[in-house]
Amino acid sequence: MSSLLTITPAKFLKGEISLPGDKSISHRAIILASIAKGISVIRGWQRGKDCLATLNILKMMGIEATEEKDELFIKGRGLTGLKEPTDILNCENSGTTMRLLAGLLSAQGFYSVLSGDSSLRRRPMRRVISPLERMGAKISGRENGQFPPLSIIGSSLKGIDYSLPIASAQVKSCLLLAALYARGTTSITEPYRSRDHTERMLRFLGVNLEIDSLTVKVEGGVSPVGKEISVPGDLSAAAYFIAGAVLLNKSEVKILNVGLNPTRRGFIDVLLQMGADIRVLNLREECGEELGDIEIKGGATLEGILIRGEMIPRMIDEIPILAVVACFARGKTVIKDAAELRVKETDRIKAIAAELCKMGAQIEEKRDGIIIEGTGRLKGCQCQSYKDHRIAMALIIAGLAAEGKTEIVAPECIETSFPGFEDTLRKVVRD
Ligand code: S3P
Repeated sequence: MSSLLTITPAKFLKGEISLPGDKSISHRAIILASIAKGISVIRGWQRGKDCLATLNILKMMGIEATEEKDELFIKGRGLTGLKEPTDILNCENSGTTMRLLAGLLSAQGFYSVLSGDSSLRRRPMRRVISPLERMGAKISGRENGQFPPLSIIGSSLKGIDYSLPIASAQVKSCLLLAALYARGTTSITEPYRSRDHTERMLRFLGVNLEIDSLTVKVEGGVSPVGKEISVPGDLSAAAYFIAGAVLLNKSEVKILNVGLNPTRRGFIDVLLQMGADIRVLNLREECGEELGDIEIKGGATLEGILIRGEMIPRMIDEIPILAVVACFARGKTVIKDAAELRVKETDRIKAIAAELCKMGAQIEEKRDGIIIEGTGRLKGCQCQSYKDHRIAMALIIAGLAAEGKTEIVAPECIETSFPGFEDTLRKVVRD
């Protein structure tokens, strides 16, 4: 039987909190530290299930890693120091783990197999297999290369010029990792800018990149150098607290040390445009990433908005929680060009539309997005998480702002990206 989490309405959110480290940056820190020369210390890394899957896989390939408090020490084995794993590499629920490692493993001198849970085994992999094959990779997947498991015979790769058909940081990062091993230059162009954590961390660890608007170029053969890496708090995790505080009148929340990389800040920019009362303080840079503190006050009147094009990759993971906020805005919120949401951990367009409709929202599902007519209220009811952490957390915030009791079925999936979510929420909820 699945477990149930009961949410009762909150009056407001109040307090000062810090959140777990950024998930995307933690994955990259673990991978790059493993193939770096020398020791890295990763401070504030995120111990969610996704990042633990990445760490476990690297350990299976000979990486020595030790943990002390919130620090992870990794002994890098250099570009060519990984060992052939003796078993299938389990990426669990993590698309980032599978796609980034597909690039890395394509260039190793050994055979490997990447698999994952039933959600990950339904996610599209042609997007990494096609360009990797052009680089010379020997990689195959189920249903003629569409789905995991992926079976990889490491080969010698060559640099290519590649234009991504859709903006994807996972695909771009997969190719950048492969490019570190390739002969010559690899040039990757995106239709819109996706998150650039890999580029920033590679530069921070001493690998030279040429970046010109939507194109990034890297020369093969240069090994990153191990360093101390501080991981900022996860803006995607902060989004649930920001939304809760924006929606509940009289809220006052401060979130410390949150990553504010411009390629990730779309959610804050959109809320500001909708009229929310949010201030960014103490903006600074550490280890090549921007971070700061965020202050949110509740109760501002929100207006519906049109979100499309280049804004979508800047807030791709925050669209379910934005849909919750839009239910309380005046007028229509229209989200377009977001078909990618249909191939995340679950079909997030379908899932959030179905569950918010159950709560009384007026939502129209489109092929590449959703239209939300703000009605100013939601009614509590029983909702499904679809075993998707972002759907579960978005519905919990919806439950805090709704009338009556909300129940979330199977909330354990939150452990994927936010261990301790409920405890942190309890610290700030006033009812
Ligand atoms: C991620 C990139 C995004 C995002 C995912 C994490 C990353 O996926 O949805 O949660 O760490 O690179 P795409 O780049 O495939 O859109």
